[in-house]
Amino acid sequence: MNKQFDVIVIGGGPGGYIAAIRAAQLGMKVACVDEWKNKQGGPALGGTCTNVGCIPSKALLQSSEHFDQARHHFADHGIAVTGLSLDVGKMVDRKDTVVKQNNDGILYLFKKNKVSFFHGRASFVRVADGAYEIKVSGASDETLLGQQIIVATGSTARALPGTPFDEEMILSNDGALRIGAVPKRLALIGSGVIGLEMGSVWRRLGSNVTILEALPDFLGAVDEQIAKEARKAFDKQGLKIELGVKVGDIKTGKKGVSIAYTNAKGEALSLDVDKLIVSIGRVPNTIGLNTQAVGLKLDERGAIEVDDACRTSLPGVWAIGDVVRGPMLAHKAEEEGVAVAERMAGQHGHVNFNTIPWVIYTNPEIAWVGQTEAQLKAAGRAYKAGTFPFMANGRARALGDTTGMVKMLADAATDEILGVHIVGPMASELIAECVMAMEFRASSEDIARICHAHPSLSEATREAALAVEKRTLNF
Ligand code: FAD
Ligand code: NAI
Repeated sequence: MNKQFDVIVIGGGPGGYIAAIRAAQLGMKVACVDEWKNKQGGPALGGTCTNVGCIPSKALLQSSEHFDQARHHFADHGIAVTGLSLDVGKMVDRKDTVVKQNNDGILYLFKKNKVSFFHGRASFVRVADGAYEIKVSGASDETLLGQQIIVATGSTARALPGTPFDEEMILSNDGALRIGAVPKRLALIGSGVIGLEMGSVWRRLGSNVTILEALPDFLGAVDEQIAKEARKAFDKQGLKIELGVKVGDIKTGKKGVSIAYTNAKGEALSLDVDKLIVSIGRVPNTIGLNTQAVGLKLDERGAIEVDDACRTSLPGVWAIGDVVRGPMLAHKAEEEGVAVAERMAGQHGHVNFNTIPWVIYTNPEIAWVGQTEAQLKAAGRAYKAGTFPFMANGRARALGDTTGMVKMLADAATDEILGVHIVGPMASELIAECVMAMEFRASSEDIARICHAHPSLSEATREAALAVEKRTLNF
């Protein structure tokens, strides 16, 4: 007999597993189907984020940062390190342990919330009496019936045309997270989020890293002043970034990878490296879903077409996360998952796209929420800007980490905060206060009047708010 559910969630990444838990909390009978396998062939819930994305990359960023600190910065604190050595195998094993803790944590959460989990690939079979028949192909095949479906099948790395990933020399994010020894020479194509994060990991561990980027501007989506400050820091660290390049033929041989490219001046060059990471964006993943069986509509990018509320072209079928429009971020996927579950329960689920934070976990970290100066100018919106450098923040000086600044943009007339842009220490944590302020439609004066602990990096946010009115106290 078919197993019947109120909701079947396809995909157990941050979008899917959170949607499943929220729907179960709201009293629905929920199944979640996910096909990711760990090394032993068992389930590995958490999707791209947990297995080959957010979590493992942050584990390696942390380990490599410790190494870099010990190598270059402990001496500033009077700590001499002799005989420093690196065990990449152990570092990668630690990362795998962190991933497994997260995989197991989600399985536990499913049990706790009574979500039925099926390990295998889900595909649409047909609509029968208003319910959707879903086939699960896994260790044992199953047929499930769901009144409503949430598709949360995520995304996969985009390959360069004619250069498929072999995960030995031409690596996607997957291979980039399990390189077994430090490559002497490493190239990355694309200086977006993955390019900068993974480039940073391997540079810190000793690789000679070159990033080739097609666009003429560095981090075009980031506020220009912040991107410039970050670029200065990366240049100082020895991360080579070439902008405005056109990548040509890529050849692999016994000695490594040879990349032909034309630089911004139009000169034909070639770069020889041991490994190449291709980080040129990701594509929505609908492989194996058999969308044609039920007529689920995709858009021109291959993403599942949805409206503002994540409703697809089919009644009772919703889609969330990387497989639909919008930024490819774990927390965006989670927000959509919660909102959809609440809408199914007749509540008013809501995602505010204006207050989704972005973080790039480099050193310095880059984080922002809301609009950049360029966007405000383009929209003709009158604004005031306040900046405060970490150089003038006592905690940053004590940490020995004074690169960067906090920049706040507020409406010229109402003082409502329109955007906050941070480059510097713990920007990933500092941005939370700014997101909350914007969610409550706070003014810069509101932040300026809030008591912030001393000494703390958060005082730089308050000072940036004071700077909007040109009345900083410590600069
Ligand atoms: P996914 O996480 O991709 O999950 C989809 C799941 O569905 C997978 O488990 C897949 O196996 C499963 N699936 C697909 N098709 C089927 C099917 N037919 N049947 C059954 N199961 C199926 N975002 C951040 O916010 N912060 C970060 O720091 C960050 N770091 C990243 C670092 C890297 C290297 C990468 C690649 C991405 C990073 N991201 C980060 C992006 C983040 O991982 C994604 O935005 C997020 O995982 C999207 O969640 P999702 O649930 O939509 O899809
Ligand atoms: P990205 O979109 O961030 O960057 C891709 C870069 O590659 C762009 O700068 C683009 O101009 C460049 N590019 C594209 N084609 C090119 C070509 N042929 N030659 C040279 N350059 C080319 O994509 P990325 O870094 O692959 O990451 C994918 C997504 O994963 C991110 O957009 C983000 O949504 C998510 N992610 C989020 C992280 C975070 O939140 N900290 C960390 C890592 C990934």
